[in-house]
Amino acid sequence: MTAGRGRATGKVILAGEHFVVYGAPAIAVPLPAVALEVEIRGPGGGPAPGGHVAACARIMHERWGGPDPAGLSIAVRSEIPVAAGLGSSAALSVALARAWAGLVGRAAGEGELREGSLACERLAHGAPSGIDTEVAVTGRAVRFVRGEAPRPQAVAAGIGLVVIDTGMPASTREMVEAVARGRAEAPVRFERLLAEASERADEVADALAAGDVARLGGALDGAQPLLAAVGVSTPEIERAVAAARAAGAAGAKLTGKGGGGTVIAACRESDAAALAERLRGAGWAVVAAGRIAPAA
Ligand code: PMV
Repeated sequence: MTAGRGRATGKVILAGEHFVVYGAPAIAVPLPAVALEVEIRGPGGGPAPGGHVAACARIMHERWGGPDPAGLSIAVRSEIPVAAGLGSSAALSVALARAWAGLVGRAAGEGELREGSLACERLAHGAPSGIDTEVAVTGRAVRFVRGEAPRPQAVAAGIGLVVIDTGMPASTREMVEAVARGRAEAPVRFERLLAEASERADEVADALAAGDVARLGGALDGAQPLLAAVGVSTPEIERAVAAARAAGAAGAKLTGKGGGGTVIAACRESDAAALAERLRGAGWAVVAAGRIAPAA
């Protein structure tokens, strides 16, 4: 007997990753092309969950009651590459929270889903800023500043995005810790990078709202060296960024934790398919190519 189902999509951070942990604004948009589904079946429905899924199920059980997770089967079907910077862990926690709410017949609102998801994210990442959870819960583009209420981000029509997977997984917790060490060693330098990253994030926000692809690309190009300066780029990321620019992108950068993972390239919506084809032709794995969904 199917007892509960939940779904959430991936996300990309267009600007401000890592710096958001220290108060910079970050801009993220949903990536509906890749989604994750959780299906919880009652006792006897299949093998019991293990690892992170079981730990998240226990969190939901403690918060919202319901059957003992050890007696349930929890199936996860995901199109989101794992540990690639596309929000797979937040999507898992939100989809699982939705499925658990269905299981116990609870109409969980956005606030409850956020809290449940963040409790799971803390297990996975230590001290997440919350931006991944915000996009997974709302499915909307967001301007996120830690400690402030997230604001919807306006997105004009006609903006394209191509997502390239370097194929190298990385741990968010390890990358965030590496940035923290670098900040502790050179705090003045870090503050300068933080201020520049905030400016690039504001440019990205303005360009998205105005539908200005050239400005968006310039802001992505400006953000990439800042991420490299805090140590989260890799030679493979730099190669993917260069390949995207050479293939005609308006600009490109890593997205999310870095250390491998994915690279995003901005273009006009009408150019996204051709840009993706050129990148595939050059041997790159393209995860998604299409538009950034317009938002008011
Ligand atoms: O887990 P990822 O790759 O989506 O990265 C999360 C974004 C960070 O800024 C690196 C961490 C955070 O909690 O905001």
